[in-house]
Amino acid sequence: MRIKISPSIAAADLSRLGDAVLQAEKAGADMIHLDIADGHFAPNITFGPGTVKALRKLTSLPFDTHLMITDPLVYLDAFVEAGSNIISSHCEVLDEAKFSELRERLSDKVKLGIAMKPDTEVPEWVMDNLERIDLLLVMTVNPGFSGQKLLTSVLPKISYLSSHIKSKGLKTEIEVDGGVEPENAQELVRRGATVLVAGASAFRRGNVEQAIKELREKAESALVVK
Ligand code: DX5
Ligand code: ZN
Repeated sequence: MRIKISPSIAAADLSRLGDAVLQAEKAGADMIHLDIADGHFAPNITFGPGTVKALRKLTSLPFDTHLMITDPLVYLDAFVEAGSNIISSHCEVLDEAKFSELRERLSDKVKLGIAMKPDTEVPEWVMDNLERIDLLLVMTVNPGFSGQKLLTSVLPKISYLSSHIKSKGLKTEIEVDGGVEPENAQELVRRGATVLVAGASAFRRGNVEQAIKELREKAESALVVK
């Protein structure tokens, strides 16, 4: 199995987002993580559908759009039209009815992710609907900014979700987002992470290509059966 690396360009030089996408692709990234923060759900404002659409023509890599916004249903179509391939919305602003609306509106063209903040207990409606959720985005930092330290208090949540997915024989991906780096990648994969977001560890360690390669090596070393 291949662990997917999803570099977060919100951690890159914001005056050269296009270059960051191209560097990530050259480094073998599996998708591009696009952090959309609305300044309300999260204490930062990043970029919107217009930027996503502008970046779309640069690469065919899947766009892994992380909506840290209070009203995902209002902006959903704009991010679909802009070229997102996965759209993750936060369970904290949803309930089962809103989730079902998301699911219907995304159809099977765009994958549906459910994101959760570090302190959020996984809602029952998420566990009850796992077979309709393509990806669980487990945040290991509080929403808003790249460069934070991974909160180890979230680690048991990854194992809990992974064992639940396995016991139901589902293919739901577990994406870990926040403070991921080579030093913790192995543990994350051992606990069941299948997608690793890399912001600072990809774009703020000098050589992007080397950083992403090292992250992948460390992550996949967890898959080697001893
Ligand atoms: C935080 C974002 C994360 C973050 C990742 O609000 O959702 O995707 O940008 O960056 P690092 O890997 O530096 O924590
Ligand atoms: Zn994110």
